[in-house]
Amino acid sequence: MDISRFDETVLGRLTPDPLQFAFTGKTTAHAGRGGRPILDPGQQQAMFTGLLAGEPEPGRARCLYLHIPFCRVRCTFCSFFQYAASPAWIDNYLQQLWREMEAKAATHWAQAAPFDAVYVGGGTPTDMTAAQIAELGRRLRQLFPLRADCEITLEGRLNGFNDDKYEAALNSGFNRFSFGVQSFDSQVRRAAKRLDEREAVLERLSQLSRGNQAPIIVDLLFGLPFQDEACWQRDIADFLDSGAHGVDLYQLIEMQGTPMARLVGQGKQPPPAATPLKARLYGYGAQALEAAGLQRLSSCHWARDSRERSRYNALAKTCADVLPLGAGAGGVINGVSVMQQRELQAYQTACEAGEWPLAMMMAPAPHFRRDGLLKSAFDKGLLDGRHWRQQGQPELFDILRPLLSIWHERGLLTLSAEQAELTLAGRFWNVNLAQGALQALSPAHAASMPPAHFQPKENNHVTH
Ligand SMILES: C[S@@+](CC[C@H](N)C(=O)[O-])C[C@H]1O[C@@H](n2cnc3c(N)ncnc32)[C@H](O)[C@@H]1O
Ligand code: SF4
Repeated sequence: MDISRFDETVLGRLTPDPLQFAFTGKTTAHAGRGGRPILDPGQQQAMFTGLLAGEPEPGRARCLYLHIPFCRVRCTFCSFFQYAASPAWIDNYLQQLWREMEAKAATHWAQAAPFDAVYVGGGTPTDMTAAQIAELGRRLRQLFPLRADCEITLEGRLNGFNDDKYEAALNSGFNRFSFGVQSFDSQVRRAAKRLDEREAVLERLSQLSRGNQAPIIVDLLFGLPFQDEACWQRDIADFLDSGAHGVDLYQLIEMQGTPMARLVGQGKQPPPAATPLKARLYGYGAQALEAAGLQRLSSCHWARDSRERSRYNALAKTCADVLPLGAGAGGVINGVSVMQQRELQAYQTACEAGEWPLAMMMAPAPHFRRDGLLKSAFDKGLLDGRHWRQQGQPELFDILRPLLSIWHERGLLTLSAEQAELTLAGRFWNVNLAQGALQALSPAHAASMPPAHFQPKENNHVTH
């Protein structure tokens, strides 16, 4: 590998403080390379039908991602928002969703092997009624073969998630809950249009966590307007006091067109944190969680104990297949990426016509298996040459070694004979590093990015 071709956007800067200054900003939400888009709708339908008539690849993990595109109120920072929740719309949507689930569950591919993880995300799935949550859980388990220890996550928020909904979810098979909290601070919450004040959020979170029926996971954002270092330290302390079983720390990504961008542009809110402050917030959060004994599962996810496995998030970042269900869901089968129709009308029309509700498809990127291994390694913070050899990539570590040596010098990782472990700074910049590695491996041209909305959800996310 000739690293003289690369500048600081790939190599990072040599600086005494790589956490804050190795790069100027996050280059992309998720690392990745897209394949060739398949634009013709007829070809999309035929190709997807072919995939679902075929055999799953033996040994490859399989997930279901099901999208509920409704929220009662739009948060100012969020670019996932699709539709305001109205009982009639949700009810009508679920009728279409049942059709789509039945059609997909009837395929050979869906029945040929059990699924390892199911993620019901949004939007705000917890805005469904208790009866709808129960019906969804029941249908998922009835229609699709799930492993006995399949992780079945329900995402949403604590506001309105009463005991009836919780019981309905548990009784219908959900065994993991992921709640967006973002910040506990009432001023930050109000500015972001989050529902409930700090005390109400903490009270409900502690109650559910104490119940100890299933892992309760919390998403926190860092870099929101009004969220300074003291506020973030209280956020981390509040999470630790709540007793919740796991936490994601997500860097705020500023998206054009969000209410937050407008409010900041009009001078009605202070701007969100600049990158060096975000880096310090991340550094504080990661170190405080680990000092409190939490186990790091990835660069942005920590678990209090072994009951939190975060299986969906870990699998969706590798080459696992993800079967998408619902309007706006993304997935991938045999390396073919799929994005479903986001518009409810288009989604409904397709379901009623007995068609797959596809919006976009991309043929497998060259080397999608190798890229999956790399992305999941950077996300985890450990690049392991021996593991890559076992996974059919015997030379990958040695090919990357010149780049890894530079990153070692720049404080982003520590390099040994067959392993590279990201430092705290490297973990903060892990998406830049993963994207840099992919770019370095494509000699002829820079890694081309799929559009951000076209990537399978990893908790967003998109995933994140
Ligand atoms: C799609 S949301 C769904 C969760 C739920 N509806 C809620 O109220 O938070 C999943 C997660 O995406 C993250 N997220 C949303 N907007 C983001 C942004 N602009 N930058 C980074 N993460 C974001 C939040 O942490 C959120 O919990
Ligand atoms: S953060 Fe959650 S509740 Fe808020 S708009 Fe986004 S998806 Fe909806």
